[in-house]
Amino acid sequence: MRAVVQQQYGGSEQLSMGDTPEPVPGPRDVVVRVHAAGVDRGTWHLMTGRPYAVRLAFGLRRPKYSVPGRDVAGVVTQVGEQVTAVTVGEEVMGTADGSFADLAVVPEQRIARKPEGLSFAEAAVLPVSGLTALQAVRDAGRVRAGDEVLVIGASGGVGSYAVQVATAYGARVTGVASAAKADLVRSLGAVRAIDYATQDLDDGTRYDVVLDIAGLRPIRRLRRVLTDRGTLVIVGGEGGDRWLGGTQRQLAALAMSPVVSQRLTALMSKESGADLAELGDLVDRGQIRPLLERTFELDEAAKAIDHVASGHARGKVALTP
Ligand SMILES: NC(=O)c1ccc[n+]([C@@H]2O[C@H](COP(=O)([O-])OP(=O)(O)OC[C@H]3O[C@@H](n4cnc5c(N)ncnc54)[C@H](OP(=O)(O)O)[C@@H]3O)[C@@H](O)[C@H]2O)c1
Repeated sequence: MRAVVQQQYGGSEQLSMGDTPEPVPGPRDVVVRVHAAGVDRGTWHLMTGRPYAVRLAFGLRRPKYSVPGRDVAGVVTQVGEQVTAVTVGEEVMGTADGSFADLAVVPEQRIARKPEGLSFAEAAVLPVSGLTALQAVRDAGRVRAGDEVLVIGASGGVGSYAVQVATAYGARVTGVASAAKADLVRSLGAVRAIDYATQDLDDGTRYDVVLDIAGLRPIRRLRRVLTDRGTLVIVGGEGGDRWLGGTQRQLAALAMSPVVSQRLTALMSKESGADLAELGDLVDRGQIRPLLERTFELDEAAKAIDHVASGHARGKVALTP
């Protein structure tokens, strides 16, 4: 089958098109014909091996998986003998260890049916970023109806879902993004948009929950815009050092939380099929919709990853083999 392949860590010039053997499913695995594969920030981290901490889990010397990509949507072509959740011919979405290919293997616990109202490309950009947003809002942020919520990085992959999910939970959302994307952020449900380049986050408003997805702001500045008993959820941010990539803030927040009145927490998202099904329900109810900026051909994977790595995509992009 055709696949994008990568033998070493490095920039997108490491990627090439190759022929690889068709995957064989394990007993609890599903083989999916890839109609679309989402590209997210994590794909860049796994391609470059940066920050170096990611190599502890994904290969010390070279990438553990030679085919990049996690997000996938497509049609089931084969199932392992113990799989009960889906059958051959069903349209699904999920996360694979290598989705930039004609076929991908998805463990049964990381798959869900594709919402009927979404194209394959839209469904392919839901899993990684949507799960992160759902778990940040529901579990780490414990957002309740009526909460004032600040989403920093509201126009990006995770943030575009976080604004919609928090709005669906009944929160009043303020989104932080560039001025050019203020209208986009409001169209997702935010009641207010803040331009990170020209406006101070601290304009007197105090938030019950701050979802910090971009900008690597110091914790003390984020705490200043929280209510006394508010919750800070650190999700991510780019541009930290090459070893930890800014994750020191997550560790500092967890260490500080027990001794302050606010809840300071960090998110490590989980690739859960049950949560993916919950996202599918939110789509079916018209409460969230993937913000798909554009699609690329499979052999344009390098271009697609560079586009996402620029940090200024409008929502999400996908490859369409
Ligand atoms: N914890 C986890 O489990 C987990 C899971 C997934 C992702 N992440 C991390 O979450 C982060 C965001 O991922 P993503 O896919 O959403 O990235 P993305 O698509 O590149 O989005 C970045 C967003 O940040 C905004 N932004 C850029 N500079 C900013 C600044 N100084 N202040 C405020 N906003 C700024 C951008 O706005 P403009 O485009 O308008 O400039 C854009 O909305 C990444 O670091 C990723 O690694 C963590």
